Amino acid sequence: MERVHSLRMMSIFLLLHCLIIISLFIAATTATTSSTITDRDALLALKAHITHDPTNFLAKNWNTSTPVCNWTGVACDVHSHRVTVLNISSLNLRGTIPSQLGNLSSLQSLNLSCNRLSGSIPSTIFTIYTLKNVSLGKNKLSGQIPTNICSNLPFLEFLSLSLNMFHGGIPSTLSNCTYLRTLSLAYNDFSGAVPREIGNLTKLKVLYIGANRLQGEIPREFGNLTELEQFSLPTNNLQIEIKLHVSPHSFRGIPQELGNLAKLEILQLFQNNLTAAIFNVSTLKHLGLQDNSLLGCLSSIGDVRLPNLEGLYLSGNNFSGTIPSFIFNASKLFKLSLQRNSFFGFTPNTFGNLRNLKWLSLYDS
Ligand SMILES: *[C@@H]1O[C@H](CO)[C@@H](O)[C@H](O)[C@H]1NC(C)=O
Ligand SMILES: *[C@@H]1O[C@H](CO)[C@@H](O)[C@H](O)[C@H]1NC(C)=O
Ligand SMILES: *[C@@H]1O[C@H](CO)[C@@H](O)[C@H](O)[C@H]1NC(C)=O
Ligand SMILES: *[C@@H]1O[C@H](CO)[C@@H](O)[C@H](O)[C@H]1NC(C)=O
Ligand SMILES: *[C@@H]1O[C@H](CO)[C@@H](O)[C@H](O)[C@H]1NC(C)=O
Ligand SMILES: *[C@@H]1O[C@H](CO)[C@@H](O)[C@H](O)[C@H]1NC(C)=O
Ligand SMILES: *[C@@H]1O[C@H](CO)[C@@H](O)[C@H](O)[C@H]1NC(C)=O
Ligand SMILES: *[C@@H]1O[C@H](CO)[C@@H](O)[C@H](O)[C@H]1NC(C)=O
Ligand SMILES: *[C@@H]1O[C@H](CO)[C@@H](O)[C@H](O)[C@H]1NC(C)=O
Ligand SMILES: *[C@@H]1O[C@H](CO)[C@@H](O)[C@H](O)[C@H]1NC(C)=O
Ligand SMILES: *[C@@H]1O[C@H](CO)[C@@H](O)[C@H](O)[C@H]1NC(C)=O
Ligand SMILES: *[C@@H]1O[C@H](CO)[C@@H](O)[C@H](O)[C@H]1NC(C)=O
Repeated sequence: MERVHSLRMMSIFLLLHCLIIISLFIAATTATTSSTITDRDALLALKAHITHDPTNFLAKNWNTSTPVCNWTGVACDVHSHRVTVLNISSLNLRGTIPSQLGNLSSLQSLNLSCNRLSGSIPSTIFTIYTLKNVSLGKNKLSGQIPTNICSNLPFLEFLSLSLNMFHGGIPSTLSNCTYLRTLSLAYNDFSGAVPREIGNLTKLKVLYIGANRLQGEIPREFGNLTELEQFSLPTNNLQIEIKLHVSPHSFRGIPQELGNLAKLEILQLFQNNLTAAIFNVSTLKHLGLQDNSLLGCLSSIGDVRLPNLEGLYLSGNNFSGTIPSFIFNASKLFKLSLQRNSFFGFTPNTFGNLRNLKWLSLYDS
């Protein structure tokens, strides 16, 4: 009797156990299916918002007869089948970004760059907690960067909004995106000061903020950005001049602290009405300071070491006096432009040490 009872108890227990496992399984699969349907609907909403698709990319590849994870430009997590990557860059797509795209709640990388998308970025995009890469550069997008951007995107590593029509200030709260390695805001209509808080983003390797209407000073705190490799050069194949600003007020100084940037290779600060000097950065390869107001005697700069300098562009300043000795010790220099200054005292041997010099421009010096 005891034995029968305990056997019965045991089978009831086992049955319950099975039921629990089965219902858990059903719950899990329905959850998976409903969120994959959400992902599919979000992408179909995007497809519906594209008004012009010259290569018929979406028409050919995005349809409900194949699972979302097989669509071209889409990648999914192998277990959850949620969309983690959306890359439809360089397709010349016209249209807008629908708010439904914010439903891709497992998205890590969003690349819509090099299209002709217009309108603003829907605020729902800034709620995708998992986002690491956001590439929206080279479109016709407008609007502002929300000040709470980092409260919902704490893991952001890559943010490119360059070559668009964004306006407003660069929010100081961007410093809360502490994992940022690339911040590219060049070629927009951003205005106001460059927030000193950006100097807290110590993982930054690339910072492009040129060609906006920013003004004020380059914050001293930027000297804390010791991982910085490139500061303010345009991306892609656009090797045209950078202007940190074009309005009457301007960046006034290059803080000495930038000399701390031990990995900096390219520094471009063209046409900024800068008045301060040059400093030591042993890794620097290209220094562009054209058309500033770096008045005075360049040779009074003193002992500056730029041993790896390959390109130095100083045209259109008001330097006078003799050419400073640091230029002659930069033995790797192969491009030097000094035109539109007031140097004097050249001798035929002046450039004798610069064995690699291939391109020298002294017009009007
Ligand atoms: C649907 O998309 C797949 C690729 O994802 C493609 O092979 C197929 O031809 C498309 N079907 C239609 C009807 O367009
Ligand atoms: C989707 O892709 C998987 C893996 O790449 C493949 O096995 C499957 O046949 C594809 N499904 C369709 C409907 O194309
Ligand atoms: C993104 O798409 C572009 C254009 O289709 C392609 O060249 C590039 O390799 C893709 N990038 C990734 C990371 O898949
Ligand atoms: C997707 O997003 C839209 C707009 O942001 C919202 O109205 C809708 O309820 C969402 N759909 C699902 C299935 O989550
Ligand atoms: C984000 O972009 C970086 C640089 O392009 C790349 O190395 C990384 O793999 C990307 N991450 C994801 C999740 O796509
Ligand atoms: C986005 O796509 C463009 C063009 O295909 C590419 O240059 C860029 O590196 C991509 N962004 C990321 C974060 O991978
Ligand atoms: C930024 O981070 C600080 C400290 O973690 C927090 O107090 C603040 O609320 C955050 N601000 C925003 C706008 O995310
Ligand atoms: C960020 O920078 C500001 C000003 O440069 C400073 O006052 C603040 O303490 C910094 N915040 C963090 C979280 O490092
Ligand atoms: C950042 O730079 C400022 C000014 O140069 C300095 O006072 C501050 O201590 C630095 N902060 C960190 C965290 O290094
Ligand atoms: C350059 O700066 C000086 C003073 O710092 C100012 O007087 C002058 O107007 C500025 N010039 C331009 C073109 O911004
Ligand atoms: C540059 O470095 C040299 C050698 O380390 C040093 O003597 C000089 O004072 C430094 N110059 C500046 C402006 O920091
Ligand atoms: C250049 O400096 C000289 C004095 O050294 C001054 O007379 C002249 O006006 C300056 N030119 C410009 C364009 O600032």
